[in-house]
Amino acid sequence: MTARTVLHIGSLSKTFPAQKALDDVDLELRAGEVHCLLGQNGSGKSTLIKILAGYHAPDPGATAELNGTPITLGSAEAREHGVAFIHQDLGLVTELDAVDNLALGHRYADRWWLSGRRERRAARKLLAEFDLDLDPALPVSAATPGEQTMLAIVRAVAATDGAPALLVLDEPTAALPQHQVEQLFGLLRRLCERGAAILYVTHRLPEVFRIGDQVTVLRDGRRVTTRAAGSVDADELVELIIGRAPTEFAPVLPAAGTEVLLSASGLSGGQVRDFSLDVCAGEIVGVSGLIGSGYDQALGLAFGARPRESGEVRLGGQEVPADRPDLAIAAGIAYAPADRKRLSTIQQWTCGENVTLPRLPSRGKARWLGPRLERREVHPWLDRLGVVPHDPGRQLSLLSGGNQQKLVLARWLRMDAQVLLLDEPTSGVDAGAKASIYEALAGIAAEGRAVVLSSSDAEELCAVCDRVAILRDGTIRSVLAKGELSVARIVSETIRDSDDPGRGECA
Ligand SMILES: Nc1ncnc2c1ncn2[C@@H]1O[C@H](COP(=O)(O)OP(=O)(O)OP(=O)(O)O)[C@@H](O)[C@H]1O
Ligand SMILES: [Mg+2]
Repeated sequence: MTARTVLHIGSLSKTFPAQKALDDVDLELRAGEVHCLLGQNGSGKSTLIKILAGYHAPDPGATAELNGTPITLGSAEAREHGVAFIHQDLGLVTELDAVDNLALGHRYADRWWLSGRRERRAARKLLAEFDLDLDPALPVSAATPGEQTMLAIVRAVAATDGAPALLVLDEPTAALPQHQVEQLFGLLRRLCERGAAILYVTHRLPEVFRIGDQVTVLRDGRRVTTRAAGSVDADELVELIIGRAPTEFAPVLPAAGTEVLLSASGLSGGQVRDFSLDVCAGEIVGVSGLIGSGYDQALGLAFGARPRESGEVRLGGQEVPADRPDLAIAAGIAYAPADRKRLSTIQQWTCGENVTLPRLPSRGKARWLGPRLERREVHPWLDRLGVVPHDPGRQLSLLSGGNQQKLVLARWLRMDAQVLLLDEPTSGVDAGAKASIYEALAGIAAEGRAVVLSSSDAEELCAVCDRVAILRDGTIRSVLAKGELSVARIVSETIRDSDDPGRGECA
């Protein structure tokens, strides 16, 4: 017996001033099923979701039925009838604490009086129910991207009194380490068993096979196919997504040198305790761990973007002062934070301006900047990382989430820094662009520079790193050499319970 249809969308198109983002898309979501929505960066996934949420109006002619009742797309009707959304940018107010963020989503404002105490109690209860260990009184900006994701999910589900008809998640795991992904999948399964339908956007294909029942692939705004997840394999899926046979990423990594380029000793600050790591010229070093282990704060701390309590950073033997990103950049260190959209973009500026922000293009002695010169400098980077649309003059806010990520990365790759510190460099980018980013990183290492990247994606760490340092409780607890790298090993080291500290030294 086929399951009951929860949502049916027909003939959905969306034309933005410069571009057709969706072209005659049909979609059917059924109760108890996880329906994965896949496609390259800019293929229209978020646009479809934003139309369902009422943020954009569709082109005329689209139809939609929710539980058999017609609804108007582009209005708040879906939301009012039990559809819950976790958007790509989460939609949290990061200046407020978890209590207020949960209250905003939980319709407390409907009541004629507000009680701070009741809000706090309700927030604590919700966080406990979802097993989320978060101080409800701290501003959400202090939480890691992973914690923020879980908070947004808790809020969305709570807003439908725990029983959404349809839960829509736009790349919820982009910032989640493995252990929280399991927690999220557990939650999704429970909701499915209770009859919810789930629309799930991801760039991580293994997730499709773990959690997906159905898969729909979008390419250039058109629906390419809808299939049972069990009837496709990963290669086939990549081919459907990018429209051609995939090329394998097999970097020829040069043997890393033995000259220490970057040396961090005894760094402490935030969740990080006594973090020591030596990185050699020509190396790509990974840093990983669970949320709360400090793995996602270590690079920002080394760079000076997070306050340092103690410890020392040296680049080529020269000390790099604490808490001075400007001096770190001048010394030859570049840093891209994970939350690139919030921390490193100026949304109203053009793509070109965002790329050239830290170092303006210049020609010869004359430090003169014109749009032509900017275009000439920026174009090759847009090419290299496959940014769509390929237009340095386009306002950044009009690009899809993944394309914005690529652009900020391009900015730092362009800087010729000796050492690149990158938090989650491929979070939110599609399979094709991931390979280009890995190639760019391998190229940097081949030039005798070095890359340190933090990542929650074990496959990525295996694919690109020479070594991976795993943090637990704020400190490096194990360092896996190239020959020891496997997904299973990384996962088991991140969740292992032991206390033998390690120091990350060059091989
Ligand atoms: N407000 C807007 N104005 C103009 N163009 C837009 C707007 N929003 C999105 N677009 C364009 O529509 C296309 C689809 O964007 P969308 O955000 O839906 O992509 P996506 O599939 O979610 O990609 P990603 O995986 O990067 O998140 C992109 O080319 C984007 O540049
Ligand atoms: Mg998107």
